[in-house]
Amino acid sequence: MIYIFLFILFIISVFAAVSLFSLIITQVPFVSLSRKKIREIIKKIDFSNGRLLLDLGCGDGKFLIEAVKKYPNLQAAGFELNLWAYLRAQINIILSKSSSQVKIYYKNFHQVNLSQADFIYCYLWPGAMEKLKAKFQKELKTGALILSYAFPIKNWIKPKTERISKGNLYFYQIPQAA
Ligand SMILES: C[S@@+](CC[C@H](N)C(=O)[O-])C[C@H]1O[C@@H](n2cnc3c(N)ncnc32)[C@H](O)[C@@H]1O
Repeated sequence: MIYIFLFILFIISVFAAVSLFSLIITQVPFVSLSRKKIREIIKKIDFSNGRLLLDLGCGDGKFLIEAVKKYPNLQAAGFELNLWAYLRAQINIILSKSSSQVKIYYKNFHQVNLSQADFIYCYLWPGAMEKLKAKFQKELKTGALILSYAFPIKNWIKPKTERISKGNLYFYQIPQAA
């Protein structure tokens, strides 16, 4: 009995340590949106005129999986530094049989070149969006669409805004260079 208790305690401690480690690095907690909320968000987006969707901080991958279900021509990739969220995403991809369309990488998204993306989806934190602004300006192609759930990018292009039950979805389209 004591061994089972110690084993459970060990698993909980590993979980807590890994989560704390990724939180220190990213300063963004892993929050999993419900499928209902994700579907509500996806209903507001037209992914039909692009090919590559990236989720920066993809958590358990559900957003990408739901997006490719609705848009079979879409390719999707997610980047995640929380090990538990990353493992859950890999399991969700296997269970949903979407591995030909969705790839998840255990990687810091600041080290990823975004130039091929048609769509960027983020559900992060105000400070994280602020840090991404320069990267978006430098790397994204004209016409690329950034979709940020809950947190706008301050002092930038004026976004289109859609209300999603308890939060907003912000749309930013990269304009033609002047
Ligand atoms: C609020 S969750 C969003 C999960 C998912 N995108 C969704 O909408 O359900 C934000 C995730 O971003 C991840 N994250 C934050 N900064 C990151 C970085 N620089 N590289 C990779 N992942 C990061 C966190 O670990 C966290 O799991």
